Parts: sequence; structure tokens; C-alpha cells
Amino acid sequence: MARKVSRLGGLALAGFLFLSGWWPAAAQGTVVVYCGVQEEWCRAAVSAFERETGIKVAMTRKSAGEVYAQIKAESANPRGDVWWGGTGDPHMTAAEEELTEAYRSPKLGELQDWAVRQWEQAKGRTVGIYSGALGFGYNTKEVAAKKVGEPKCWADLLDPKLKDEVQVADPNSSGTAYTLLATIVQLMGEEKGFEYLKALHRNVNQYTKSGAAPAKAAALGETAIGITFMHDMVTMVVDGAPVKVVAPCEGTGYEIGSMSIVKGARNLDNAKKWYDWALSPAAQEIGAKAKNYQVPSNRNASIPAEAPKLGEIKLINFDFAKYGTSEERRRLLSRWDREVKNLPK
Ligand code: G6P
Repeated sequence: MARKVSRLGGLALAGFLFLSGWWPAAAQGTVVVYCGVQEEWCRAAVSAFERETGIKVAMTRKSAGEVYAQIKAESANPRGDVWWGGTGDPHMTAAEEELTEAYRSPKLGELQDWAVRQWEQAKGRTVGIYSGALGFGYNTKEVAAKKVGEPKCWADLLDPKLKDEVQVADPNSSGTAYTLLATIVQLMGEEKGFEYLKALHRNVNQYTKSGAAPAKAAALGETAIGITFMHDMVTMVVDGAPVKVVAPCEGTGYEIGSMSIVKGARNLDNAKKWYDWALSPAAQEIGAKAKNYQVPSNRNASIPAEAPKLGEIKLINFDFAKYGTSEERRRLLSRWDREVKNLPK
């Protein structure tokens, strides 16, 4: 009898909790997110989304080129649902190869023009979620020890005194490094650009897998200079590292960090819920809380005070459509592999 009563009591309590909205929304299913931003931001976004929707998120962080390769390899049997973040070029390539799904979010009207243009160029298969300029950062102590002046331009990175003192990622895996490759080619012309990259190679100590790794290495003094997105270097400055952030004097490229839904996503409804949520101002403001200082794409999201001011940086007129095509991406990467990566020093 007593047991029956307590069971009834338990049911009543459960009913009350459910009706009052407190009941954890357990039956909302899952969504598999391939995350292309920094791990800290990925994790903060996942917890906020899970808390707000009750949908369980399975997340892995990977560099842009790696996610693209994974989605392509899995295309016969898709495992991912949403590809959130990372530079836009591989998102554009995936769109062209129809590895991703077209989707018009009700939030589209709230976005900056550059984010909508990305969506239009990809025929709705990808959308801009943030933007940031490429640059480099240097460890002030290491640079002073090398007795070189403060580097201000791309050209300064070729100083022979900086041999083995520059770090950048590999453009095959990293969207950051692919942005560098496409930037240099657009800034200098392809032949001169490759001459520059070959000369830079002499000073490169390591081509890392992920784009932001050289920022951490510069902060620790493991390399004097790291080429990354400027906002990734700002994170190091905010953490107190002796690092200066540079917008190169000749001009520089930038990214439109993007988001796409995987074609054949098993959890399509939840993928769309993530997508709409990720375009909302509140979700976009999580970036700065996790010390990621990109410019958000929703016009109503506040721009972090720490974000490098795009209007004050000499930006090239980056041709996202061209450098995002499958053919151009493949051609430039194989030329870089052939002529730069394996060059003896
Ligand atoms: C960092 C930056 C992002 C960028 C991403 C690309 O996370 O903060 O703005 O989109 O790098 O990563 P990857 O490892 O592909 O260069």
C-alpha cells in the first residue's frame, strides 16, 4: 500500500514538473555537429544549445579542410548533421559538390550582407556566421632577441634572421592557411605569390594541422611569429601573452566563417534547429564569452570590443566564389604541395 502511494506521488510529481516546464527535455533526440571554431567556443555553444533545447549534441572539432574531407568520405552514409564554423572556402566547395543541403532560415533577414551573399553564391547551401581578417602576431620578446625590427608587412616575414621563426598551418587541413594561400595569390598575382610562399618556407619551422595553433606557439615563445586570423592572436593578448597583433601593411584577406547542413543528415529537423539557433544574436554572442573575437553575422549581435576592426584594416577584395570552387582549391593546393611544402630548406 505504502509503495503504491509513493509510486502515485512520484507520478504526480513527474506530471507537475513536466507541466511546469522544468522536466529535462529528454526525448528531443540528438544532432551531430562538426565544429570548425576553437574547441572552447564549440563546447560553450554545445552546452547552451543542449540546455535551451534538450537536444543532445555529439560534437567533434576539426579544421576546415578535414571536415570537408570527412563529409566527402561519408557522403554515401552521412554521419554528421551540421558543419558549424570554419572558413567559408571548403563550405563553398562542399556546396558546389552537393555534399550539403540548401536551407533558408527564418533568420536570414537578420544577417549582414556578406553573410547573405555567401548563402546566395552557394545556392543556399552555406551561410556566413562570422568574419575575421587574416594577419600575424609576434612574440615581442622573441622578436627583440632576433634583432629584427617590429614586423609590419608580409615582406618582413622573409628576413633571413627569422629562419625557423615563422609558424603557419598546412592549407590542406587548415582553412586559415588556405586563406593565406588565396590571399597571397590575390595580393601579389599567382607567380609572384608562389615566389613569396617559397621564400617564406625557408623561415617556417612547422606547418601545423590547425590554423590557430601558431597563435598558441607564439604566445609561449615556441615561435617568434605565427600567421593566423588576427582574432586568434587577440585571444592570446587577452590571456596576457607578450604578443602583438599585426594587420599586414600590403593588405590582407579575410574569412566568412560559414555553416552548412550535411546532405542526407539523419537528424535533419534538429540540424535546422541548430542552424536557426546559431544565427540568433544570443548564440552568436557566446563566441566572445569563450574569448573568440570574430565579427558576428547577425546584425543584432553585439560586436566584441576586442574584435579587430575590419573597417580599419586594408582588406583585399577577396573572391570567395572563385577560391571556393572545387577546381581552384584543388589546383592551388596541389601546386603548393608540389612547389612549396616539399622544398628543401
Ligand atoms: C580558428 C578561427 C576561426 C577559423 C578557424 C579555421 O578557429 O578562430 O575563425 O574559422 O580557425 O580553422 P582551421 O583549423 O581550419 O584553420
